Amino acid sequence: MPNPLFQLLRYVRPHRKYAALTLGFGILGFALSFAYPWIIGTVVDVVTSPLLTFAQKKAKLVTMTELAALAAILNAAVVYGRGHFNVHLGHGIVADIRRELFEHLQKLSLLFFAKERTGSILSRFLHDVHEATSLLYTGLIVVGLDVVQLIIAIVLLASISVKLTIACLVLFPIYAGVFALLNPRVRVASERMHGKLTRISGNVAEQLAGQALVKTYTAETREAARFERDVRDHHGLVIAQSRAGHLVASSGEILVHFGTTMVIGYGGYLALAGTMTAGTLTRFIGYMLIMFGPVRRFAELNIVYQTSISAMRRVFRVLEIKPTIVDPPNPCREPPPSGEVRFEDVRFRYTEDSDEAHARLDEDRPDDGDNQPYVQRSLVLDGVTMHANPGEVVAVVGSSGAGKTTLLSLLPRLFDVTEGRVLVDGVDVRDYSLETLRSAIAIVQQDPFVFTGSVRENIAYGRPNASNEEIEWAARAAHAHDFIMELDDGYDTRLGERGANLSGGQRQRISIARALLKDPRILILDEATSSLDVASEAVVQKALEELMRSRTCFVIAHRLSTIRNANRIVVLEGGRVVESGTHAQLLARAGAYARLVRMQSVVT
Ligand SMILES: Nc1ncnc2c1ncn2[C@@H]1O[C@H](COP(=O)(O)OP(=O)(O)O)[C@@H](O)[C@H]1O
Ligand SMILES: [Mg+2]
Repeated sequence: MPNPLFQLLRYVRPHRKYAALTLGFGILGFALSFAYPWIIGTVVDVVTSPLLTFAQKKAKLVTMTELAALAAILNAAVVYGRGHFNVHLGHGIVADIRRELFEHLQKLSLLFFAKERTGSILSRFLHDVHEATSLLYTGLIVVGLDVVQLIIAIVLLASISVKLTIACLVLFPIYAGVFALLNPRVRVASERMHGKLTRISGNVAEQLAGQALVKTYTAETREAARFERDVRDHHGLVIAQSRAGHLVASSGEILVHFGTTMVIGYGGYLALAGTMTAGTLTRFIGYMLIMFGPVRRFAELNIVYQTSISAMRRVFRVLEIKPTIVDPPNPCREPPPSGEVRFEDVRFRYTEDSDEAHARLDEDRPDDGDNQPYVQRSLVLDGVTMHANPGEVVAVVGSSGAGKTTLLSLLPRLFDVTEGRVLVDGVDVRDYSLETLRSAIAIVQQDPFVFTGSVRENIAYGRPNASNEEIEWAARAAHAHDFIMELDDGYDTRLGERGANLSGGQRQRISIARALLKDPRILILDEATSSLDVASEAVVQKALEELMRSRTCFVIAHRLSTIRNANRIVVLEGGRVVESGTHAQLLARAGAYARLVRMQSVVT
């Protein structure tokens, strides 16, 4: 895996202006840091010089004071400029990465989302990107300048006295050794820390979503114990990282102070012996402190850097997951004119050998190559052939787990077939642009999704600029208008998360209105009424009939009345079509369908 710092560079481009400003102020500050030792050294030499007259010394002193005042003002500008523009640059990049991550996540298929937990994804999105910022703020430019500062300081030191320079640097190799030894540990611990936090977020999000279950099974104590374990593990990882990190920091400290000690002793001796003036020694010590600045900063900030780099690596790893369901190179953008659908010998299994299938967001071990054993699952669909002419209603029946939902999710390409083809008006669904294909299809599910927002926004989700008249028309057709008008604010009533303040039947009618407004050529009803009570089912059924008019429909339903009138009934068993025909034909065959009908309620 390439160094994430290099990957980061391409994000700097759009923010070059702020990068240049930060760099400009950085260089100014950097030059200024050399001004003080020079001024102080000069003042010491001027004051102690036996050659200059008092008047000359006074004049020089005034000049030096003026220079020092100028440096003070410039320094103030540097603190503002370098700090502020660096945030502009750093946060600009963070915002870009978040945007890219969001867009990328939306391109990933359901294979990915079925496997990853919402909390874990959120953790990458918020925590990891945030952690990466510390490097962006302090790192990028400051680190670069620090290296330059170190080199210039060493050159200046050596130009004053090579021996003294060597004396203050003898401990460098020890520091380098400690760093090489401990830093990999800091890095691994950082990686595992983030991984653990991702897993904790996943657990907590799941636990919160399942509060009703937790409460009714009085599992609070167990959940608390699990959380406690997670937190303890995370704490252990933070401590491990800190131990290694602070050992690196303290060895840096030894380097700095022993170096200073050497210079005080040996430099003092040189000055005593008259080999060096007091002013030169002062200047040397000044430059030396400048040189130790970056060393110290680095030793101290190393933990932050390593935490940041590993967070960044995790973010880039998500960005590198290749989406499996994408537009073809030259997609067909003609909307299907009539909505004829054909499944040809379709085979499908859930796991594919893809990036999406391999990714594990809450894995807390750093990547060490291809370490995940890959399980090939069995075929869920094993050679399904069926078709629907434009405007026909095709019912798909079969026991639970037969593959009905899976089969129909291949139509809008929520998944892609493993073998075989799905054609809409003679064109393979994989040859349409995803937008064209999906605009032509609506799905009404058993448990429709309603998001936080107004009733109006929820209905208009597929056509955000629909007029109020159109929205109301859809709601009336979906038999939803009356109950909506009874809500506190009518169409402007805000719905809670997942439509918490609506009944199942009401949510379903909102989702039917949404589908009506989208006006798709092809409609999929996946057990749209099975979670409703008899009274709401009757209303929703009426709404559905409105929706089904003049479209190609696939109906998975347990209500026999809908199925009875279907143009064709397909019976699915273990991923295969075992029978197909009209209600009357299938009853006459006295086969699987007849058996399901006899059992009535079992037709799901
Ligand atoms: N996301 C998934 N990942 C792996 N297997 C799945 C997934 N969804 C469904 N399955 C499996 O596929 C089979 C068919 O499921 P499904 O199409 O939902 O059946 P039905 O809708 O007929 O009840 C089942 O054995 C189920 O376990
Ligand atoms: Mg199903």
